[in-house]
Amino acid sequence: MEIRAALPSERDEVLDLLARWYDDREFFARYNHNDPKFRDALCLVARDAGALVSTVQIFDRKIRLDGTAVPMGGIGSVFTHENYRHKGVASALMRLALQTLEREGFEVSLLFAERLTFYNQFGWKEIDRKFGVLTEAAAMRADFGVEIDVFDINRDLAEVAAIHRDYSGSFNVCVIRDPEDWRANCSFAGNQPMHPGEGSEEYFVLARAGGTIRAYARAIRLYGVTMVMEYGYRSGAEAALFALLRHLSESAQELPSSFRLIGDHRRAARLRSGSGATAPTGGIVTHTAHDKHLEERMAAAGAPVIHHTDNNYMWRIVTPEKLAARLNATPEGATARAMTLFASDASLFWTSDRF
Ligand SMILES: CC(C)(COP(=O)(O)OP(=O)(O)OC[C@H]1O[C@@H](n2cnc3c(N)ncnc32)[C@H](O)[C@@H]1OP(=O)(O)O)[C@@H](O)C(=O)NCCC(=O)NCCS
Repeated sequence: MEIRAALPSERDEVLDLLARWYDDREFFARYNHNDPKFRDALCLVARDAGALVSTVQIFDRKIRLDGTAVPMGGIGSVFTHENYRHKGVASALMRLALQTLEREGFEVSLLFAERLTFYNQFGWKEIDRKFGVLTEAAAMRADFGVEIDVFDINRDLAEVAAIHRDYSGSFNVCVIRDPEDWRANCSFAGNQPMHPGEGSEEYFVLARAGGTIRAYARAIRLYGVTMVMEYGYRSGAEAALFALLRHLSESAQELPSSFRLIGDHRRAARLRSGSGATAPTGGIVTHTAHDKHLEERMAAAGAPVIHHTDNNYMWRIVTPEKLAARLNATPEGATARAMTLFASDASLFWTSDRF
């Protein structure tokens, strides 16, 4: 069994292997083809008897911790061919992933997992995190004066990226995006396409007033509910964000929007394009715990937040010494500080930055 980084000539074969997982090759291809930070050195494979039988991928990101940018290697696309399971193949790749993370200069690592004990063996630790559930979004008091438009990357990216930098960038753990990262993120964030080749499923809306974007929200349909996987608002523009949330909830239920719409909103149908087995629901799942002020305003607007906790979020410190230099602490102090920040309700990791 060969355990090593993939060769450029193996890129298609890796996707063929991953296609066995969800029968959705395109979902994985979107990341590998569109991520400017994808490199073969970060795509680990096991080959046996002429075939690729297992893979683990490292996603190259930067997160903000105490005001500094820290290289973060996200672990994802962990998959072993059915015939090769329980033989230690993924474990061997996880050990290689650790060496690779260290060699390539990643200081911390994140992964999302259901099999927590599998990753515990390699040093990742699960951390509770809260999602915010808004059951009353369709009845929210909002700014009814805004116009709701659809994001156009060529026209709106600079303005939206500035809101992201000012709003999301003020929270620990948030992923830092340059314009290239933003373009890549727009091409792969979201859930799996309903049909191969459809690309990202997100419905990305903007609240405009007086010629400026006041707030934005990026929504997908996930397990039959509307998931707002990222949002941002200008200082004082909470009610513009509430307009977007109300509009998304109305869209998911096929209710007429309470707002003046501009642009092409056909993508709103994606919030309803489930299996048909689940009734349309107006509830919204998003991240709010980092922004206590916003949660208070939501309650006052008639949509109190209910928290839902999960622990699929797992972190590991890769190089305590390097992190120590960056955070101006001892290795133990830096490890403790970073783990505290990962676990803090006041930190933020958007679902749009998942891999
Ligand atoms: C999760 C997954 C990648 C594991 O791959 P794998 O190659 O079977 O992994 P390993 O063999 O290294 O480890 C699997 C288990 O077998 C055990 N094992 C390892 N070597 C073994 C051996 N020689 N004999 C018996 N068991 C063994 C491991 O201890 C591990 O136990 P655990 O599940 O209780 O932790 C594989 O099940 C898979 O592809 N699942 C579908 C995709 C998926 O869920 N990916 C992970 C998303 S978080």
